[in-house]
Amino acid sequence: MLTQTQKNRVEELLSQMTLDEKIGQMNQESPSIVGGFDVPFPELIEMLNDGRITQEEFGKIMSTAERDFHEDDIRAGLVGSMMGDDPVKANELQKIAVEESRLGIPLIMGFDVIHGLRTVYPIAIAEAGSFDENLFERTARVAAKESRAHGINWNFAPMLDVARDSRWGRVSEGPGEDPYLASVFAGAKIRGLQGDRSSVENYVAACMKHYIAYSACESGRDYNTTSMSVSQLYNVYLPPFRAAVEAGALTAMASFNDLNGVPCTVNRWTLRDILKGSLQMPGFVVSDANGIRECVTHGIAEDDADAGVQAANAGLDMDMGTHIFRDHLRKAVEDGKVSMDVIDDAVRRILSVKMWLGLFDHPYVPEETIRSNAVIPDEHRAVALEAAKKSIVLLKNEGQVLPLDRSRKISLIGNLADMSEEVIGAWAMSWKREDCVTIRSGLENAGANVTYYPCGGPEGEIDFAQVEKACREGDVVVAVVGELVSMSGEASSKADTRIPGKQREMLQAVLESGKPLVTVLMNGRPLALKWEKENLPVLVEAWHLGIEMGNAVAAVLMGDENPGGRLASTMPAMTGQCPIYYNHPNTGRPGSKSKFTSKYLDAPLGPAFPFGYGLSYTTFAYSGLTVEELEDGYQIGVTVKNTGDRTGTETVQLYMQDVTASLVRPVRELRGFRKVTLEAGEEQRVVFLLQKKNLGFWNNQGTYVTEDGLYVFYVGANSEDCLCERVMVKF
Ligand code: NOJ
Repeated sequence: MLTQTQKNRVEELLSQMTLDEKIGQMNQESPSIVGGFDVPFPELIEMLNDGRITQEEFGKIMSTAERDFHEDDIRAGLVGSMMGDDPVKANELQKIAVEESRLGIPLIMGFDVIHGLRTVYPIAIAEAGSFDENLFERTARVAAKESRAHGINWNFAPMLDVARDSRWGRVSEGPGEDPYLASVFAGAKIRGLQGDRSSVENYVAACMKHYIAYSACESGRDYNTTSMSVSQLYNVYLPPFRAAVEAGALTAMASFNDLNGVPCTVNRWTLRDILKGSLQMPGFVVSDANGIRECVTHGIAEDDADAGVQAANAGLDMDMGTHIFRDHLRKAVEDGKVSMDVIDDAVRRILSVKMWLGLFDHPYVPEETIRSNAVIPDEHRAVALEAAKKSIVLLKNEGQVLPLDRSRKISLIGNLADMSEEVIGAWAMSWKREDCVTIRSGLENAGANVTYYPCGGPEGEIDFAQVEKACREGDVVVAVVGELVSMSGEASSKADTRIPGKQREMLQAVLESGKPLVTVLMNGRPLALKWEKENLPVLVEAWHLGIEMGNAVAAVLMGDENPGGRLASTMPAMTGQCPIYYNHPNTGRPGSKSKFTSKYLDAPLGPAFPFGYGLSYTTFAYSGLTVEELEDGYQIGVTVKNTGDRTGTETVQLYMQDVTASLVRPVRELRGFRKVTLEAGEEQRVVFLLQKKNLGFWNNQGTYVTEDGLYVFYVGANSEDCLCERVMVKF
């Protein structure tokens, strides 16, 4: 990661540091809000949470609030990292660190840039559905550049939690349910964030999170306990982190949850043995906010001091949010509870990342870069638009209602169609309202003959008179329904994942009118879509697509873009099926018509739409699956033909099943995918090379094994709809 000269520089610094300065490096600060509003800060947060003030009002209050930026502590060398997205402030604080502290060590500036900074692109679960590795990298590259221009050099991204339970609100932030797709996503995001080191303005340090198994929270409830076998951890939750480290990921954030009884903040096995040991992550680990103190609440540490000792010894290098390292580590070292080696290792890792970032030589954001932040560069907007278009999934198009004929009068209903703050998605923090394109404006920009009727949204009542008017006056009704941004993301788990509020009644009223209905979904989680699948003729999954959402949706509805997105996550039929995912282990009694099989009395066994699913305005046919054995793998070929009447892009998916293994294996596992664009009538042979070494799995001893026996290879358009071939494999 560093040249010898850089390593020497780090060692030289380390040798000059006092214990307090070393511990200072392990301390992260964020600007503390100290006043400037009429009610105490915790009450203000409560007011936001219970709806007494809106997000916008809260933002206004915050923008004038008095803050403490901990300048004195920075000057004293007691702060290693700060949070924030204001480049002017970043320069000011950096100047104190570099010019006024004893050793002049720059701050590493961290921030949550999950799916874009100013140029907000689709939430991860949507973007993952583009199955486009190159796009994953390019969006991250835009985020890296904008971050640096805002004084941020450390992104708390990518979020790599493989998520199988859509009750958990944070499914929106991650790459979906599949470890293989998530690993491709992880590698590309790391290359995008860290890869272009031609100038310090082009890259940041990535912080993969949440390490680990955070998404396996029991009952989908955020922060809840997780427990699983070693094999499950290694096969499902670890792969994207492994892929990220292989691509060079420098840092990680320990998750809040306990794993098999040990909180990840103080988990020596996951931090020291796996992440820093076998995976060899070269940089450092930061806690999640308040994570160290929460170990007391978990009931694993006696008090703050004990939690700090456990965290440092387990391999946690930086404290986010508690000051426990700052306040207690010195005594712990003096009492022999934490060794100097542990402290030195943490500080060496932190300084090395700062060195790798070029902060010692280029600590400031140049003035002209700050000025250029005033507008979004066209090329950034273009990437956001491309990502938004490629993330849209056509779920149903009965009667080929889509694309819409330009001459038709569109009645647009559903408040989400006209709310600029709702295109953004959870965890975007630095967006500007004027940059956001709603579906209403997108349709207007596209020259559609559209009239908007305010009928109601995810919350509150429906104005049925308006619905009736919309149906009467238009040739076709486009209804935008789904979730507000605040209904997914952190601390936003749900026990009922159907389309919220009275939106379904609004859709029903349109159906009863007999007018053609196109339903566009805006949401952060896979919704339970049994009724919608059964009753709605046309269904478009548009997620929260970022600033270009409206233009992207309009392009798909009007036919300027042929949709090619796929589901990166199974869409349940009913919430009670959660967790539901395609790559589940086989039971001894797979669900069937007979009574004593694995199924529900009151819900279908299968999902509304499976992983990998998505339609196009054209159709594709698969034929001629062949499997040819090579020396160290298999060549798997299939012919894909565009059988419709327009050009389209198909995502050809390769799955496998290990049928006879020493552990029960999933019924299918994604092992590759290829996007092909075919003109009407065109066909192409798509060939995958699957290496034998990739047919294995991790056992409960944490060992990767490959086993002789029967395998099935599947190739098709989604995880259910495949051609297959059985193969006896010998290693
Ligand atoms: C809490 C969240 O869990 C994490 O994703 C985020 O990066 C940190 N807080 C910092 O904001």
